[in-house]
Amino acid sequence: MKATAPGKIILFGEHAVVYNRPALAVPVEQVHVDVDVLDANEPGVWIHAPVINLQAELSTLPSDHPIGSVILKVFQHLGILTFPNISIIINSTIPVAAGLGSGAAVSVALVRALSSFMSLSLTNEQVNQLVFEIEKLHHGTPSGIDNTVITYNMPVYYMKDKPIETFRSGKPFTIVVGDTGIPAPTKESVGDVRRLWLRDSNRFEVIFNEIAQISLIARRSIESGRPEMLGELMDHNHEFLQQMTVSSPELDVLVYAARKAGALGAKLSGGGRGGNMIALVDPALAESVAEGLMSAGAKRTIITEIK
Ligand code: MEV
Repeated sequence: MKATAPGKIILFGEHAVVYNRPALAVPVEQVHVDVDVLDANEPGVWIHAPVINLQAELSTLPSDHPIGSVILKVFQHLGILTFPNISIIINSTIPVAAGLGSGAAVSVALVRALSSFMSLSLTNEQVNQLVFEIEKLHHGTPSGIDNTVITYNMPVYYMKDKPIETFRSGKPFTIVVGDTGIPAPTKESVGDVRRLWLRDSNRFEVIFNEIAQISLIARRSIESGRPEMLGELMDHNHEFLQQMTVSSPELDVLVYAARKAGALGAKLSGGGRGGNMIALVDPALAESVAEGLMSAGAKRTIITEIK
């Protein structure tokens, strides 16, 4: 039984979304997690995840193992007390701890593949809810945006505890993603922002409100077919993320390099500190912006069209 889940980028509103402000995220299908569940020849739940060098039987893993704990949670949720004899093969092209949603994508693909193998069909809503529970185990206080955009595999305008709103672009636009290659767990930057917010909540609330406005205007620009407006909004959003201390010298170098190479705007995307940045580009300039990013130190780039 096979299942796949895409990566994601946050276009606007990361971090502010943890504080109930809206954010926009879109799936990135060029990178994905693929999970295959097969009958095993020997007793046990065998996990093969070559990208993280994992080849183990479930019961030999510590209970808080990032993949083992997801599988246990899925069995628990599905009411499976006697574990089947299976092999779970996990392959992924999503870089880990890079702001592209690798953790949530592994969970979505695992939940779907395991539930189908057990002939239990889950709705998107059930998958999303279960993966959110798993995200909370690993990330402390996630907003829920990563599991939502990856489960629904559609652009989302997301606000915590509000009904999910998906949206479509009035006109396609092109984004170049640049990877600093520096792993940066979201949990840490989210925790740091929380500490700063507790210390100076007035200042942070003002920043979050400004970002909320940006997300709102961005959604309108996208839906009404004026994506070129997003460039300036990205630049503003990046400034606020810098003020929140979640940018880094490496991210700033890539953001400035993208603008210098002709991008209409650029910002970090996701948790920050490392991981990825994104740039809005005219499709004709996408390759040269990607080259500019590589010359400025990016470890890889992805060119993606948002429809
Ligand atoms: C991570 O992709 C986005 C953050 O806003 C954290 C979250 O929403 O849970 C930084």
